[in-house]
Amino acid sequence: MLQRTFSIIKPDAVKNGDAGAILAEIVKAGFKIVSIKRISISRPQAEGFYHVHAARPFFGELCEFMSSGPIFPMVLEKENAIADLRKLMGATDPAAAEKGTIRQRFATSIGENAIHGSDGEETAAFEIGYFFAGVELM
Ligand code: CMP
Repeated sequence: MLQRTFSIIKPDAVKNGDAGAILAEIVKAGFKIVSIKRISISRPQAEGFYHVHAARPFFGELCEFMSSGPIFPMVLEKENAIADLRKLMGATDPAAAEKGTIRQRFATSIGENAIHGSDGEETAAFEIGYFFAGVELM
């Protein structure tokens, strides 16, 4: 089933100059880039995006980090996009990420882990709508 997912190249990867290499991996893995932009978000905008994590002890740190510099939010499309992107990203903690995955190659810690990917269909729908308008997704 052709499916869409949402992803963000996070501030650490952008700062380190790894955005191009990460995008190349994503395209090589067969994803179509439906939409992409380079933006900076405010702390409240990051809090809104990560609202499901509001009660977690790392919430403040996470939102501070995500609003610390430019990011590349994007919408990706392929068969089984959600599961396949998560596989390509690797585990949340780069120390536990499988060799060759994006987080193993480009992330430095569980907090600064280079890339985000939606964890399910409902989440993907919310996250796509949070960053992109309908006219940007045609
Ligand atoms: P992401 O896939 O963007 O979704 C939630 C994020 O919270 C996750 O990636 C991590 O970057 C972050 N996160 C998860 N656990 C921790 C933690 N223990 N400390 C700091 N950040 C965390």
